[in-house]
Amino acid sequence: MKNLLIKNIKGLAGILSSGNGPLKGSDLGNLEVLEDAFLAVEDGKISMYGKMSDLSGITDWRDLEIIDAEGKYVMPAYCDSHSHLVFAKTREEEFVDRINGLSYEEIGKKGGGILNSARKLADMPEDELVQDALKRLELVKSLGTGAIEIKSGYGLSVDAELKMLRVIKRLKEESDVTIKATFLGAHAFPERFKDDHEGYVTEIIEEMLPKIAEEGLAEYIDAFCERNYFTAEQLDRILTAGAKHGLKAKIHVNQFSVMGGVGIGVKHNAVSVDHLEELADEDITALKGSNTIATALPSCSFFLSIPYTPIRKLIDNDIVCALATDYNPGSTPSGNMQFVNALACSKMKMTPAEAFNATTINGAYAMEVGEELGSITVGKKANLIITKEIPSFAYMPYSFGENCVDQTLLH
Ligand code: NIG
Ligand code: FE
Repeated sequence: MKNLLIKNIKGLAGILSSGNGPLKGSDLGNLEVLEDAFLAVEDGKISMYGKMSDLSGITDWRDLEIIDAEGKYVMPAYCDSHSHLVFAKTREEEFVDRINGLSYEEIGKKGGGILNSARKLADMPEDELVQDALKRLELVKSLGTGAIEIKSGYGLSVDAELKMLRVIKRLKEESDVTIKATFLGAHAFPERFKDDHEGYVTEIIEEMLPKIAEEGLAEYIDAFCERNYFTAEQLDRILTAGAKHGLKAKIHVNQFSVMGGVGIGVKHNAVSVDHLEELADEDITALKGSNTIATALPSCSFFLSIPYTPIRKLIDNDIVCALATDYNPGSTPSGNMQFVNALACSKMKMTPAEAFNATTINGAYAMEVGEELGSITVGKKANLIITKEIPSFAYMPYSFGENCVDQTLLH
């Protein structure tokens, strides 16, 4: 592997000392930007950085690739800790239905939504799913993403859930984007269990989970705790079963209603609880002082026209917050972390620095790669964004809709 020197960097953003941990409270807004900087990469890791005037630290100039980043910012690549990037077909017909007055929940009740995606995925061969997902991975990479969590959940049968997770396993092998896999069998009740919800929960626990664990197909377990979907009590049992198979919790809660799922997640020491568009005081109490990261998905709120997660409340209570895309064909057909940053600033009143930290270092911790990714730290993997020439750091979330990323370098 060739070593690399990036020189004349206008601003090197996201510098953290090692062992920093996720950022919370007022620290979430801390952002160190070193102007007129260089950054060196050795064996795929960040080996050194500093002011251009101190560049003399590099002694071995042989076999060194040099990038001139004049006028450009360099920063850690985004860590998108919540996505459903593997799916069969897009669902723009439901988008039009919503424009014509149906709600997302009504579409789901009619057999559209998640069940629509499951029907389409059942017929699609594994290879095709891999090829399509690889294209989406390339797209999100071009927008700055260097790590992504991907969920199953459009299978909803033993075979199709395993197929989805095997697709994710192949993506891990074939892509340079860092990937974590989450088993989301409990995404919706399939047609054949529409009058026997318990039967499906049993299938998840007794049939799907043992096979997934045996093949080592997932790191996390998820469930959609929501009215018309999984109850808090079912979530509790699913997470207990997941833990027995070594899967940690990362869950969908409080998208439309408060069901007690946040407390259940915290009880299971969930890595993250995601969505939280609806938030009760009891949820804040449960999260306060816990290790569980609260993840907001503002592009889902944007697309469905539902409330944005009241993230300032979470930040003010010293709860660790991350931001992710939720990329999926129904509620968020976008894997653009730059847009997530823009929405976080304009709709959730986060500062550009807070939004950036929530999509990099805290996103990394929300997929348990915070010790290797998510910041400019000596020894961390050199997964980097080099921006186009931009006037300032805040220009990125300000200039929404523009791709400010020139290249995403992954090692
Ligand atoms: O996180 N809400 C549950 N799951 C996804 C959407 C799934 C879909 O509509 O296909 C979400 O928004
Ligand atoms: Fe989701």
